[in-house]
Amino acid sequence: MRISVIGCGYLGAVHAACMAKLGHQVVGIDVDPRKIAELSAANAPFYEPGLDELLQDVQATGRLSFTTDISAAAGSDVHFICVGTPQTKGENAADMTYVNAATTALLPHLRPGNLVVGKSTVPVGTAARLARLVDEQEPSAHLVWNPEFLREGHAVADTLQPDRFVYGVADGSEDHAAVAVLDELYAAPLASGTPRLVMDHPTAELVKTAANSFLATKISFINAMAELCEASGADVTRLADAIGMDDRIGRKFLNAGIGFGGGCLPKDIRAFMARAGELGADQALTFLREVDAINMRRRSRVVELTRVLCGGSLLGQRITVLGVAFKPESDDVRDSPALSIAAQLQLQGAVVTVTDPKALENAARRFPELQYEPDTSAAIQGADALLLLTEWREYRDLDPFETASGVTTARILDGRNVLDPGKWRAAGWQYRGLGRP
Ligand code: UDX
Repeated sequence: MRISVIGCGYLGAVHAACMAKLGHQVVGIDVDPRKIAELSAANAPFYEPGLDELLQDVQATGRLSFTTDISAAAGSDVHFICVGTPQTKGENAADMTYVNAATTALLPHLRPGNLVVGKSTVPVGTAARLARLVDEQEPSAHLVWNPEFLREGHAVADTLQPDRFVYGVADGSEDHAAVAVLDELYAAPLASGTPRLVMDHPTAELVKTAANSFLATKISFINAMAELCEASGADVTRLADAIGMDDRIGRKFLNAGIGFGGGCLPKDIRAFMARAGELGADQALTFLREVDAINMRRRSRVVELTRVLCGGSLLGQRITVLGVAFKPESDDVRDSPALSIAAQLQLQGAVVTVTDPKALENAARRFPELQYEPDTSAAIQGADALLLLTEWREYRDLDPFETASGVTTARILDGRNVLDPGKWRAAGWQYRGLGRP
């Protein structure tokens, strides 16, 4: 099939490459010429495991091209809207500028029978609004909402073998003409057993925000338990292991630590609350305010614990932050709790050095006043305290004896509860976890 993918960020670039991998003829379109130049040279403009190889692989077939020219969408059967919906400055609501602009720019290029497929995370009600615009332009075209659930760091696999497909169509019916088109598009993953659910527009939009809200709630729940564990001398990791064995609860997303960040969960729960307010259903989501508050409290808690670890004052303390991406296997620092903690410590008088295998460039662009050191041993040298804030494999595997030889004082705060406290203490470290005795 001929496909256009409008918006080539995390979602769109991966989606375009994966659709070409499935055998379709794909054009990726973005307003940012830098992104388009990099993608055209088969380089991912961000770090995502496997994406460079996939881009090279599919571009060699001639099935994937990139352009800044929206008129290249003309002639495609299916048009994916993959642009971002960031948080509006100074408000909780999602900024719909890019979705609106992409749709408006696409409209004149629609042909009879085309599908416009929304993948961006949007406030419920958006699909119905965009469907009207599509209908006015080209009555035989259809708008579908087909939310994307990919995780950064696993984006390629999540796109090629998702847990499920959700098709939101105007009448919510399996017989809607768009269903057969999407089935053909996703024929390979469907044939390998990926389930698909057909529903109406608002339900499909809500599936995405509900899923992210649930995940955020799960993380904040265990972080609230961590607060209680700290107050009572209990161990939140053992607590999570034990409750997680109940398969109604499950152990995944029960890792207590410095909290969630990234380009999705924080802004999605806020946008969801804002939308609920507009719909007169704000009471239904007031608990998300608490989820957000618990999450943000983790950051100040780590700053306080670091102060205690450093003997009561941060002034002049040389602190090394291990890992600053919002999670491992990503160079993304959007709303990264690690970066926010590093900046807070620096503001409170510490001398902070940050290291990370992939995210330093992005971090330095946001907080140029911190010191950045790509080499882990150099970053650790002379430190008064280490803070493990993003659990990259190389930090989990640090040897406590070897590491001790580089630092000034052997103190470590394990912000992700991934180190073995017994081993680190035995090597002479003052070890501090979160929600652990
Ligand atoms: C999330 C959703 O998982 C994905 O389905 C959706 O499409 C986009 O948003 P992503 O932002 O890539 O994906 O990250 P995710 O793996 O969900 O992690 C989010 C944050 O939660 C990270 O900062 C991570 O460190 C943190 N986290 C995760 C925890 O603190 N504890 C956990 O147990 C799990």
